[in-house]
Amino acid sequence: MASVTFDRATRIYPGAVRPAVDSIDLEVRDGELMVLLGPPGCGKSTLLRMLAGLEEVDSGRIWIGELDVTGIAAADRDIAMVFQSYALYPHMTVGENMGFALKVLGVPKEERVARIEEAARLLDLEAVLSKKPVAISGSQRQRVAMGRAIVRRPQVFLMDEPLANLDEELRVQTRGQIQQLQRRVGVTTLYVTSDPAEALEVGDRIAVLDRGVLQQVGTPEELRNAPATEFVAGYLGVAPTGTEA
Ligand SMILES: Nc1ncnc2c1ncn2[C@@H]1O[C@H](COP(=O)(O)OP(=O)(O)O)[C@@H](O)[C@H]1O
Ligand SMILES: [Mg+2]
Repeated sequence: MASVTFDRATRIYPGAVRPAVDSIDLEVRDGELMVLLGPPGCGKSTLLRMLAGLEEVDSGRIWIGELDVTGIAAADRDIAMVFQSYALYPHMTVGENMGFALKVLGVPKEERVARIEEAARLLDLEAVLSKKPVAISGSQRQRVAMGRAIVRRPQVFLMDEPLANLDEELRVQTRGQIQQLQRRVGVTTLYVTSDPAEALEVGDRIAVLDRGVLQQVGTPEELRNAPATEFVAGYLGVAPTGTEA
């Protein structure tokens, strides 16, 4: 596990007039679930992709723990992305789906089995390990998708709007589960959403972005009780505090 530090991290897309991510300073603590919250286009995915090594950093640095990863290839960053689509291999069992990446990496069978069983325990999937994806529920399938990331034991999890495809009811159900799981697994996590209610429920802390600029970082309570700007107050739908115009 590790902390993540953005040090004036900036991304200016070729031809753009403004930075998509503008000199962001942000520290995510070891084991923390940090939500990146803001409206579409504010730079959430760009910031996540910069950390993953999938997007250039035009200025500033990014650290994972003690390691400056700014110039390091994506494959060498020890990060796992949990995608919103949980397309599983239909012909493989749940266990085989979870272990597939390890097999490709050449992890020996015994070690694979141990990691799959550990992940299944954490995710409450032990009873369905030998079933095919078609025979399990939607929520179980989503947990299998998380399991595929967990078995890799990355230092950091990235989730970019993982619930965006679900209907409202399943979204509300699943966000509670994701938070509990992250607590249990304890892997430092960056979680992107544009939904304030989701952010307030799942986040240990929340970083609010607007047009590439970090507006405020705080716990859900801090943001609710003392929004730093009009924008934060408006976005969260709470009364503004202080005297800013
Ligand atoms: N590959 C790209 N090339 C040029 N501009 C981009 C690219 N990806 C995103 N942008 C722009 O950067 C800004 C931030 O986008 P993005 O990080 O996707 O925001 P979010 O994830 O918060 O919706 C937007 O103005 C978007 O149009
Ligand atoms: Mg996005």
